[in-house]
Amino acid sequence: MPGDGIGKPVLDETIRVLEAAGFEADYVEGDIGWEFWKTEGNPLPDRTIDLIAKHKIALFGAITSKPKDAAFEELAPELQAKGLVYSSPIVGLRQHFGLDICMRPCHTYKGNPLNFIRRAQGDDFDEPAVDVVIFRQNTEGLYGGVEWSDPPEQVYDALMTHPKFVKNFGKTPKEEISVSTRIFTKKGTERILRAAFEHAKKYNYKSVTVCEKPNVIRETSGMMFKMAQEMQAADYPNIQLWNTNIDAQMMWLTKNPEDYGVIVAGNMFGDIVSDGFAGLIGGLGFACSAQFNPDTGIGVFEPTHGSAPKYADYETSIVNPIAMIESACMMLDFINENDIAARIRKAVADVISEGKVRSYDMMKMRGKADVVKNGAASTTEMADAVIGKL
Ligand code: NAI
Ligand code: MG
Repeated sequence: MPGDGIGKPVLDETIRVLEAAGFEADYVEGDIGWEFWKTEGNPLPDRTIDLIAKHKIALFGAITSKPKDAAFEELAPELQAKGLVYSSPIVGLRQHFGLDICMRPCHTYKGNPLNFIRRAQGDDFDEPAVDVVIFRQNTEGLYGGVEWSDPPEQVYDALMTHPKFVKNFGKTPKEEISVSTRIFTKKGTERILRAAFEHAKKYNYKSVTVCEKPNVIRETSGMMFKMAQEMQAADYPNIQLWNTNIDAQMMWLTKNPEDYGVIVAGNMFGDIVSDGFAGLIGGLGFACSAQFNPDTGIGVFEPTHGSAPKYADYETSIVNPIAMIESACMMLDFINENDIAARIRKAVADVISEGKVRSYDMMKMRGKADVVKNGAASTTEMADAVIGKL
């Protein structure tokens, strides 16, 4: 599913790398994204859902999303009268297939000029090695979609049964109130915690950190931390359980990022903390992710970045394909092609540490069309370098 904008070049190059590494597969193209919203009024056509249900494994580039009104304006005129409302096909995919486990590793690459550095004593600096894997609950919480502006009477009446609502919001007119819910279920929470602990056990991480805010958000964050304590005590006595608040964590990640191992969080905080850690290892050109349902074996593997529309029309694509290539490695691990994944990761690491071939972001250039002329590697040249190492 290449999707929109730079999704296509990064996916094309990644498939070349997979083939060069000896991964034999037939690829079926799935339609997703803005083009299908404009022409069909649905960015996630049923035929794409059927394809994923049938084949179970998807590599996904990126899509373009726009706010409600802008989306409506770009809709084909004959569809505008149908009352269609744009919603993100990614969130749709997660919910349709229950892809509730989202995994986002952030590992420092040796020699990456974008690595985070920290002041040490005097004029010295340290370059801490980050090796963190974030487990983000992917279907519930603040992204669950249960929200209202000017809520219906029944909802308002229900809220008025809560003393804090009466005290803090009871005098505000109903039509001036917007509510976005943060619903956690025991089942969803148990599954993401289990995935996090199992990963820590399998790969010998010494700690699992629950990154929420249980002191303030008592019911949801509180439930997650309590369940983590019970799970750790029962099944993972050799793994330490740490508890950090999301706000403090965002500060600590630039102070002691090397201390963290596996981190687990709800949907919103997991999104935030994973972007924070991605910034320490080179940013969007390097941030990869997997989302899957362990029960059905359905998985969608995608870079964290979006479609970067401003770069999509350059004659030569300039964006860094590493985030997509690393996402494909996560796919390979998911289907137990671990040897091929390890070889590709080694090739990527070698290209970065050698430092001869660097995309514009690694050269710290502004992303203009002329960066290749000025010495940056194009998307294709980055992939060629990885293939060369393979
Ligand atoms: P973006 O991730 O597309 O781009 C932000 C900036 O990051 C780019 O301008 C570029 O400077 C840099 N960047 C992104 N990918 C890069 C790469 N592979 N190599 C080097 N630099 C890279 O985010 P933005 O601009 O906020 O959103 C653009 C569109 O993408 C929007 O329509 C948004 O809704 C959509 N989006 C889609 C996502 C998805 O498909 N999962 C995720 C995030 C945004
Ligand atoms: Mg994000």
